[in-house]
Amino acid sequence: MVITFASLDGAPDPVVQVDASMIEQALTNLVVNAIQAMPTGGTISVRLGADVITPPADIEGSVAEYAYVCVEDQGVGMTSEQMTHAFEPFFTTKDVGEGTGLGLSVAYGIVRDHGGWIGVASEIGKGSRFSIYLPLAQGTVKADDDKPARS
Ligand SMILES: Nc1ncnc2c1ncn2[C@@H]1O[C@H](COP(=O)(O)OP(=O)(O)OP(=O)(O)O)[C@@H](O)[C@H]1O
Ligand SMILES: [Mg+2]
Repeated sequence: MVITFASLDGAPDPVVQVDASMIEQALTNLVVNAIQAMPTGGTISVRLGADVITPPADIEGSVAEYAYVCVEDQGVGMTSEQMTHAFEPFFTTKDVGEGTGLGLSVAYGIVRDHGGWIGVASEIGKGSRFSIYLPLAQGTVKADDDKPARS
């Protein structure tokens, strides 16, 4: 499936080629975490865009344009210690029975399989922002769920 990110500023829409159900799962995990980080409510913002970025050292690729999806909350935030471990399997700060600590590690694995990564920024008491970065599709892409043209 091909996802087109509609940009608001008139720039050409960045296009990524992904397994939609996988990316949906990754995004869902980020949104569920954002909801759980705000037990008394608040706003979750999801933003789409593209930017020229140097990928982190463990990602293959040089400086290039990447599409991003950011999930930002106004929740409890994370310590730098928590940010360091957040993507590790079974790392959780939630009570027994409330979290397995697998959501972020699964999300990270999915995004890595697409050649991307997840960035995190957070401040205790202010909130967190998790950003999925995905490489832009190369060349011409075609949606695999296109309906056949009528004759
Ligand atoms: N939006 C967020 N705000 C604050 N802390 C977060 C946020 N997202 C993740 N975390 C921290 O990272 C930890 C790991 O997140 P992850 O999604 O992997 O597991 P979980 O949410 O604890 O459990 P599961 O996703 O398996 O139900 C969380 O327990 C929490 O400490
Ligand atoms: Mg989770």
